[in-house]
Amino acid sequence: MSVTRGINRLLRNVKKSVNISERQVLALAYQPNVNDFEPNGPRVVTDIPGPRSKQLIEQLDQIQNVGAVHFFCDYDNSHGNYLADVDGNVMLDLFTQISSVPLGYNHPALINAVSKPENLSTFVNRPALGVYPPADWVSRLQNTLVSVAPPGMNHVQTMACGTCSVEHGMKAVFMKFMSDARGGMPPSQEALESCIINKAPGSPSLSFLSFNNSFHGRTMGALACSHSKWLHKLDFPVPDWPIVRFPNLKYPLEENVVENRTEESKILEEVEDKIDEYNKKGQTVAGIIVEPVQCEGGDKFATPYFFQGLRDITNKRGMGFIIDEVQTGCGATGKFWAHEHFNLTDSPDIVSFSKKMLTGGFYKKVTFKPKEGHRIFNTWVGDPSKIALLEEVVKVIREDNLLDSVKVTGEYLMSGLFNMQSKYPGILSNTRGLGTLCAIDFNTTDNRDKAMADLRKKGVHTGACGPTSLRFRTTLLFKTKHVDVFMERFDDVLSQLNK
Ligand SMILES: Cc1ncc(COP(=O)(O)O)c(C=O)c1O
Repeated sequence: MSVTRGINRLLRNVKKSVNISERQVLALAYQPNVNDFEPNGPRVVTDIPGPRSKQLIEQLDQIQNVGAVHFFCDYDNSHGNYLADVDGNVMLDLFTQISSVPLGYNHPALINAVSKPENLSTFVNRPALGVYPPADWVSRLQNTLVSVAPPGMNHVQTMACGTCSVEHGMKAVFMKFMSDARGGMPPSQEALESCIINKAPGSPSLSFLSFNNSFHGRTMGALACSHSKWLHKLDFPVPDWPIVRFPNLKYPLEENVVENRTEESKILEEVEDKIDEYNKKGQTVAGIIVEPVQCEGGDKFATPYFFQGLRDITNKRGMGFIIDEVQTGCGATGKFWAHEHFNLTDSPDIVSFSKKMLTGGFYKKVTFKPKEGHRIFNTWVGDPSKIALLEEVVKVIREDNLLDSVKVTGEYLMSGLFNMQSKYPGILSNTRGLGTLCAIDFNTTDNRDKAMADLRKKGVHTGACGPTSLRFRTTLLFKTKHVDVFMERFDDVLSQLNK
């Protein structure tokens, strides 16, 4: 009885939230095709942010900092690739909540998941998963995260957000590194006591190598490996860990093979030199962390040769190797994991994820599994309701062949961007991408920002990265027809900028 009442209430809420009849809710449950109920195009009726957004921003300012808020959204009326705001504007969304919406807004399969009786307790109760997991936890993990695990990795740990996934992945590397250093023996009593007061040997002087302009998150370890904006870093006492430049390659990659190879070889040498330097000064480098595409730093791509080189260096030196797929994972590149494009001869040790995966977490090789409980831990260690939603996401990706669809849309998007680049050579350059995870550079930051503002006036919401890049972070349901809607408006905006 209570379950039925709960379902009815959920159904009523769903009905209210998408403003459709109960019969339609049920119909949608069996017809998960987002394109059937998406708007045909953008609609702009006010400035963005409009008056209602401005009013809400003012109210929010009374209780928190609103410096990052663009506008308030109307999620009830957002559908598929179209994001609605509280002023009645509807925008084609090419930024998708900072790259974190896999199937668009209000996808019927996700609405259906919320209304399934067997999911009710999953949405209502949030357990301390590390201690009291629910009976279906193993099978749900197997249906979701394990079923899409990167090649060579079948152990997974859920977490809340991207940052804490990276942070705990780094801890797994440090623990393995020290366990190896002890020859697999248990820690000494002195180590157990000294770690409590942050002193050696229990708290060893180790470091992690990362790349300039990278972004891995905002807690202290992840922040020490992030080097993209002062806003993230200023005033925090992060450790002095080794930083190496990320390859500065020429695009298109396939037309600049020789020059790019020289640059990447040089950087791989710099990586080895930097490790030697830090090892010598007593800050032994335990691992390397890298993004498969350096996203926040400006969508910088490197080649498989570079990533294979990093894998080889870390293997040779007994260090851990983390590939941070928080922004690149879950299909946007046309493969489930971006690093699958690299054909690594040995998989990474840790792969962190979040955003489109709806849950945070990291994959690890079994050798990186901690020996004791509570070593990689927090109260929730994730959220089973996100796994219930991820179950549907994975199903839709498979059933609707979304990885293939992303490849088709990505090629179409890239060819449109190349056209724009040839039409406006004084403004645009460096079209690059994998799947729909694409970017293009402007000649100046001002022009990039003006183009984004003008696009928004035409109902297209985009995201920036690095000093002059526009990045594309669409849903996996972004099709060629959406590219057309974007390109028409992009052309208009560029022709105005070109005057
Ligand atoms: C590559 C990468 N790692 C980590 C993070 C941090 O994720 P979160 O913002 O969920 O903490 C981000 C966020 O943009 C990211 O792009």
